[in-house]
Amino acid sequence: MFSRIAGTGRYLPEKVLTNFDLEKMVDTTDEWIRTRTGIERRHIAAEGETTADLAERAARAAIDAAGIEPTDIDFIVVGTTTPDVVFPNVGCLIQERLGIRGCTAFGLEAACSGFMYALGIADKFVRSGESKRALVVGAETLSRIVSWSDRDTCVLFGDGAGAVVLEPADEAGILSTHLHADGHYGDLLFFPSGVSKGFNDLKSGKDFVQMKGNEVFKVAVKTLGRIVDETLEKNSLDKSAIDWLIPHQANIRIIQATARKLDMPMERVVMTVQDHGNTSAASVPMALDVAVRDGRIRRGDMLLLEAFGGGFTWGSALIRY
Ligand code: ACO
Repeated sequence: MFSRIAGTGRYLPEKVLTNFDLEKMVDTTDEWIRTRTGIERRHIAAEGETTADLAERAARAAIDAAGIEPTDIDFIVVGTTTPDVVFPNVGCLIQERLGIRGCTAFGLEAACSGFMYALGIADKFVRSGESKRALVVGAETLSRIVSWSDRDTCVLFGDGAGAVVLEPADEAGILSTHLHADGHYGDLLFFPSGVSKGFNDLKSGKDFVQMKGNEVFKVAVKTLGRIVDETLEKNSLDKSAIDWLIPHQANIRIIQATARKLDMPMERVVMTVQDHGNTSAASVPMALDVAVRDGRIRRGDMLLLEAFGGGFTWGSALIRY
């Protein structure tokens, strides 16, 4: 048995923050941001709007697209680094809002790879027959954990949520998922504080995402190249078999490097980084939903999804849509 994607959805907060807006906040320029990252604008959650709010909207859209009722869902996993509260987890929060009771529901933290990890786990549950309809969400309000006075990071991130519903299928579907991590690189990209370690003073600007961007960039390019090879080898496929690359939307230059590795023209790469910025765990499912809904991705297409993030964590999925 396999799992297949029955429906996709996304939700972006209304507020849009452009590079020109950022020029008024930190010492940066639209030109620098566009040429170094590809980002032109990003969405930012309103005051009081939480990760679960975004996740619920994306989940409802995916459930509608799958043509099922929320109560048909029997497994919920939400990849997020920015949960509303420590617990209940965001999976439980949206389970309650969707009127579902009793099924597995949990949150999962793997930074920008959170959705890939969530998808890999949900796929195993559906394949094994333990779940009939799995809701897999990536949702973030990263705007809450970046310093809006740190130009190195604040220009990069945005908020949003994306979701898919998985259902059992006789034919793939999800052909394989690949999940990896290397904690050795923890100091290149991190958030320094937390519940157990203790928070610094949020107002003094010490509690925010910290990144050695240049070093992250180099490892990301190398690592994503390796996981592309691993995914193709595992499925005995040539790179020409891939119809669409749906990459993590962190930086256009990282995306271009992965596309080059696949000999893929950029027309076959789904790009949302210009409009969404880096939405961490939400980025891959949102990009997928964009291309499904605008008709680019069609049933039967071969998709390669990949992400790379803090930890470091990274993952990929090969999917016959
Ligand atoms: N505006 C203007 N100038 C800036 C800005 C800014 N917003 N930010 C940095 N600069 C300056 C730097 O100070 C530096 O100036 P200097 O040469 O005088 O010292 C110069 O621009 C170049 O800085 P670099 O850091 O070398 O720039 P780089 O080309 O590496 O781009 C970037 C930086 C965009 C962060 C890039 O390294 C990158 O995308 N890294 C990977 C990010 C990523 O993929 N993260 C993974 C996922 S995130 C997650 O998991 C949560």
